Parts: sequence; structure tokens; C-alpha cells
Amino acid sequence: MEIIESVKEMQSLATAFRAEGKRIALVPTMGYLHEGHASLMREGRSLGEILVASIFVNPAQFGAGEDFDSYPRDLERDSRLAAEAGVDVIFAPRASDMYPPGYQSWVDVERLTLPLCGGSRPGHFRGVTTVVCKLFNIVMPHTALFGKKDYQQLAVIRRMTADLNMAVEIVGMPIVREADGLAMSSRNAYLTPAERESALCLSRALGEARTLFRGGERDAALLREKIVALITAEPAARIDYVELRDMETLDEVAAANERTLVALAVKIGKTRLIDNCVLGEEN
Ligand code: PAJ
Repeated sequence: MEIIESVKEMQSLATAFRAEGKRIALVPTMGYLHEGHASLMREGRSLGEILVASIFVNPAQFGAGEDFDSYPRDLERDSRLAAEAGVDVIFAPRASDMYPPGYQSWVDVERLTLPLCGGSRPGHFRGVTTVVCKLFNIVMPHTALFGKKDYQQLAVIRRMTADLNMAVEIVGMPIVREADGLAMSSRNAYLTPAERESALCLSRALGEARTLFRGGERDAALLREKIVALITAEPAARIDYVELRDMETLDEVAAANERTLVALAVKIGKTRLIDNCVLGEEN
């Protein structure tokens, strides 16, 4: 496995792979890898002859007062995990190489980025789409894999790819959870043992919503109320949003159906966690 820091070098290597007719799969990450990332890498391994994982804590997608500085970083540990998952190349650029002085170009997906995390984190998705577009131009993947854990991010990237005619196939992957249901996230590293316990209210609330839905409940406002009640019962939890929306358009729904996305963002202490499920799906 090779680790490349230079944008130019990565682009030359990708050009060479393409010239040899090799299929490139890309898994973009911000590092501090866990089993969720590894599941994307293993699937990427089967989809491309060359598997690239990018590790870049992208300053453009963090707002003022967010956790850019404290975001966990450990390239040595990440390298081991990536190698085990079959990664051929880690692309780990420096921020100064991705955003050199004079940088002023942005990719902006409009409507889809307004609700949910886009509402709570203004400018976040502009940072995500811009860096993902840049990664596509640098790594030139045929396929790129993203997790449904960041459901809106996946939808926004699909939209960008379609709208801007990017020749990349986007693959969405199921949420990987800890044995007790907590969705894996690099940010789980921030949680104290007590907060880690409180954080289970997210997956529990989603499970409860699904149970009610399977029992015939279709009233979105009522389902939302039940979720809110479950989460507010947890003293350490502060709700950012609880929403029921169409899984494709992300429009709000009054009546839930199999294609309804339940999306949560909850602060546990200082740590903001997100989770979601589609009512008609297993994961
Ligand atoms: P990061 O949070 O590191 O996540 C990288 C990829 O792993 C994303 O596609 C995310 O959805 C996926 N992922 C994270 N936790 C997961 C889980 N528990 N199960 C399944 N997939 C999971 O998302 C980002 O980085 C950044 O915004 C990025 C796309 C790299 C752009 O900077």
C-alpha cells in the first residue's frame, strides 16, 4: 500500500491507472477509521482493480466553533486498517495543497442542502461537495462509495454527480453499528462512558419508530412525537432535529410510508451525533 500526499502525484498515478484500463474505486474519508469505513473499503475492493481511500479532514466543511481542530487524527492506525481492508493507495493531502492561496471555487447543490444538517450547519455541504468534486478530479474514480450513515450527504453527492455529469458511479452502503446499536462514527471517540450509554437513545428511538410503523402507525407527527419523547427522556441529550422526510426528495411528509426517512441529529454533551433509518428498509 502506498501513501500519497501530493495532489499532482495522485493525479499522475490515476492518469496512469486509467491509461492501463484499470477500474478505480474511491472511498473518501476524514480518517480515524472504523468498521463503517472498512465496510466501504471492502466493497470498493470488489468494485475496482485499484482501491484508493482518501483521508482528509476537510476544513471547508467545518463551521466556526465546530470541531475541526479537535477532530481525531491517527494516520498510522488508519494505514493499518486501510491495508487490512485491501486499500492500494491512501491519498492524504495537506490542506495547503487542496486549498492553496488564491483558492475561490465552490460547488453548491441548492435545494437538497437546505433542510436537516444543511439547516443546522450552514455551508457544510458546500464544503463537502467541493472537496468530493476535487477528489473525483484528482483520483479519477470509476466508482465512489459513501455510507448511508450520512444519508443527506449521499443524496447531495448523487445529485451533484448527476447534475454536473460526473462520470462516477455512486454506491451507497448500509450503516454499520456497534453490537448495542450505536451507529459507528469517528466522533464516538469524544464520548465519555456515561455519554456513550446516553447515545444509545438515537438508535433506540429509530427502532421504536420502526416498530410503531410496522404496527400500522402512519401519522408522521405522532411518530415524531414518540421519538422526541424518547430522546428528551435522556438527560444528556439535546435534540438538534428529528424529521420524517421522503427518502429521495427529502421533502417533509405528513403520512409515513415505506420510503420515509427518519433522520436525527442529537447532541450528547458536546458531541453532535446523527443517525437515520428508512422505515421500509432493514438498515
Ligand atoms: P467520514 O465521516 O470520515 O465518513 C467517510 C464515509 O464513511 C462516508 O461516506 C460515511 O457515510 C461513511 N460512514 C461513516 N460512518 C459509517 C457507518 N457507521 N456505517 C457506514 N458508513 C459510514 O463523510 C465524510 O467523512 C466526509 O464528509 C467526506 C465525504 C469524506 C468529505 O470530506
